[in-house]
Amino acid sequence: MNTSKTKSKYQIAVVPGDGIGKEVMEAAIYILDSLGIDFEYIYGEAGDECLEKNGTALPAETLDIIRNADACLFGAAGETAADVIVKIRQEMKMFANLRPVKAYPNTNSLSDNIDFMIVRENTEGLYIAGEEHFTDDGAIARRIITRQAEERIIDYAFKYAKENNKTKVTGVHKANVLKKSDGLFKEIFYEVAKRYPEIATEDFYVDATAMYLITQPESFEVIVTTNLFGDILSDEGAGLVGGLGLIPSANIGEDGALFEPVHGSAPDIAGQGKANPIAMMLSAVMMLRYLGENEAADKFDAAILKVLNDANVLTGDLGGSATTMELASEVKNNL
Ligand code: NAI
Ligand code: MG
Repeated sequence: MNTSKTKSKYQIAVVPGDGIGKEVMEAAIYILDSLGIDFEYIYGEAGDECLEKNGTALPAETLDIIRNADACLFGAAGETAADVIVKIRQEMKMFANLRPVKAYPNTNSLSDNIDFMIVRENTEGLYIAGEEHFTDDGAIARRIITRQAEERIIDYAFKYAKENNKTKVTGVHKANVLKKSDGLFKEIFYEVAKRYPEIATEDFYVDATAMYLITQPESFEVIVTTNLFGDILSDEGAGLVGGLGLIPSANIGEDGALFEPVHGSAPDIAGQGKANPIAMMLSAVMMLRYLGENEAADKFDAAILKVLNDANVLTGDLGGSATTMELASEVKNNL
């Protein structure tokens, strides 16, 4: 090992995972390497193949790599996804799940002017391991809402709005029925809102929100909500803008952040060079912004947009016939 080498500007944990995770990761790294930023990539194993090989889907070594890096890029896992990604989020206390919903040209979007961010609480609500158990005649899951975690996510959403020139934050809950837990969420939402007088606010019930996302998706800018509601509305958001191949996400915590496409390992197309790398690339763009590399992020983002606008080199899911790396080359040409 050459210990005299100066440390790179950023150490990036790279976990490609299974199936198309590996293909889209290669494409994203290919562009990151063209941006003139000094990245060092530390590769970690995780997922189905890793389980087969090492007897565990998420080795402690991979968690250490993620813990010690400035940020992590994650491709996709297969059947072990829950053991991998949910565990990483918990171990790294990644409390905020960010899912941008944005309409791109020449894609199957419901409307051209959709552009909002879903900020989902990632650590509590209905999804806490160990809070679900069988009873004599059924099963019970406890939904946990704490002031500390909800205030943290709501404040994150308002801060995000402020930093990204958004004018409104929408709080989503079901306080008419869940009077105590979601009553508390709603109360904290308006408490936090007072710290951001320049940002407009509104709050809706989650069922109404599910409808408004279809009837008036252009009206949303930032949505903040609890774990389960955020999970469901995020996938509805993906449906609004036409296709898993385009949707990135971020998991942000106090000690680290992980960026991943929303899609899985896609065994039906894996190994054929058919995967659309844009969701992974947009996840890398989110990582660049997290690292404060806004100029590089803008450049990368604009090159992706140009490829979608031109519509000459697109993968099969977008109606084209290009391979993963052909699309990546086209993005690189447009940098
Ligand atoms: P999936 O997202 O892998 O695939 C759903 C459909 O969308 C497939 O027809 C696939 O070909 C297509 N698709 C997905 N990403 C695409 C891309 N980038 N380009 C072109 N087409 C794309 O979801 P599915 O089929 O439900 O799950 C497959 C495996 O992935 C399962 O083992 C599942 O557990 C895992 N999974 C992992 C996730 C993660 O690692 N975060 C998330 C979702 C699923
Ligand atoms: Mg989901």
